[in-house]
Amino acid sequence: MAQAVRVVVLAAGQGKRMHSAQPKVLHSVCGRSMLAWVLEAALGLDPESVVVVVGHGRDEVRAAALAEFPDAPISFVVQEDQLGTGHAVECAAEELKGFEGAVVVLCGDMPLLRTESLAALLEARSAEDMAMLTSFTDSPTGYGRIVRGEEGELLRIVEERDASAEERLIPEINSGVYAFGCAELLTYLGRVESQNDQGERYLTDVPGMYAAEGRGVELVELLDADEGAGVNSLADLAEVRWGVQLRILEQHLSSGVHIEDPATTYIDHGVEIGSGTAILPCTVLRGGVRVGSNCEVGPFTHLREGTVLEDGAQVGNFTECKKSTIGAGSKAKHLSYLGDAVIGKGVNIGAGTIFANYDGVAKHKTLVGDGAFVGSGTTIVAPNEIGAGATTGAGAVVTRSAKIGDGEVWIGVPARKLESGNTQGNGGESPQIEGEEE
Ligand code: UD1
Ligand code: MG
Repeated sequence: MAQAVRVVVLAAGQGKRMHSAQPKVLHSVCGRSMLAWVLEAALGLDPESVVVVVGHGRDEVRAAALAEFPDAPISFVVQEDQLGTGHAVECAAEELKGFEGAVVVLCGDMPLLRTESLAALLEARSAEDMAMLTSFTDSPTGYGRIVRGEEGELLRIVEERDASAEERLIPEINSGVYAFGCAELLTYLGRVESQNDQGERYLTDVPGMYAAEGRGVELVELLDADEGAGVNSLADLAEVRWGVQLRILEQHLSSGVHIEDPATTYIDHGVEIGSGTAILPCTVLRGGVRVGSNCEVGPFTHLREGTVLEDGAQVGNFTECKKSTIGAGSKAKHLSYLGDAVIGKGVNIGAGTIFANYDGVAKHKTLVGDGAFVGSGTTIVAPNEIGAGATTGAGAVVTRSAKIGDGEVWIGVPARKLESGNTQGNGGESPQIEGEEE
């Protein structure tokens, strides 16, 4: 039977090195907080519970975790003052007392960590011993270094700021991810002191205590060293973003989404894309966007939250969509803003069309019926309706609530209905009913 596991996630720090008012673990990586990525990896172990140690921005952190995983066995303990990672784990002691299984401790600032690596860590630990994840890197700066003895055994972890010049050359780093037996962990934590450069109680002293007492410390090397990356600065955040992004892109590629240039394609967590769809370069798809099958998105397209593209829809060059549904086979291929619109099937949205959805106070909706043809440069002031099969002339300004009926043709500024036989339209100008088909 698999051993019982509880996880402790350290997330109380302010993240001073981020130079940001936002709690560090809530910084977003591909549309999701670092903490959420870490919690997902932890929950993948199917633990009895996950205890999150919170401090800075505790209400925000708690709310964010619960919003993302409302049904998961997550609880919170408060670390009032951030006295170090060892002290942080001690704050969770009440949640651990009497537990006889394994306790996995990890940091909330490592969004690339995978469940598989945590499972390997648990697998490597034998009774009363501990195991921890390490990795080798060319740039160990900032991390705790693994000091090994002659037999390759762990002697201790030394933090960068407490390390000698020689120790700083060690390329093996501490990922900050450990598996302990619960009773031993609590015993050793009680003995951790704060004799270091920061005057903090370091969790990293615990492995050295195990070693000093002759207990085993299993060093489990991460096969993918990037998983061990801890984010302490905005530069670190930008670096791990690419790792997370690549995983998301790989998932879409493997399910039949053609992504021409992954390097310039930004797809957040939680975007659905059907097979046969092409995502062209320089395109941004934000969280919650749904794209059907056989669509085309881009190049240079921004799909924001609440956007739905039904099968076969095409949205292209310099077009932004927000909270809009674009019906099957409809096209908006050039220089448009589609905000709060519900667009039917087989609609052509001409180049430069703007849905003016905001009146300075509130946002309003526009409905466009099936088969409508919106001419180039049309501005539709919301709220509004464009009927099925209706047409607007190039440059038309469809004023607020004008409501174009099914099959009607409207032209001019402000747009007026073109009565059959009246080819002069309003203002005596000749109507131009042109759109951009391709
Ligand atoms: C820590 C490790 C270091 C390791 C690195 C891996 C210690 C002393 N050092 O350094 O060996 O290489 O992680 O990324 O453990 N936190 C609290 N309460 C505190 C202090 C920290 O909850 O009092 C939380 C932070 O919010 C963060 C995590 O613990 O999520 C790690 O703290 P951080 O300051 O990032 O430690 P590092 O300097 O990265
Ligand atoms: Mg860190």
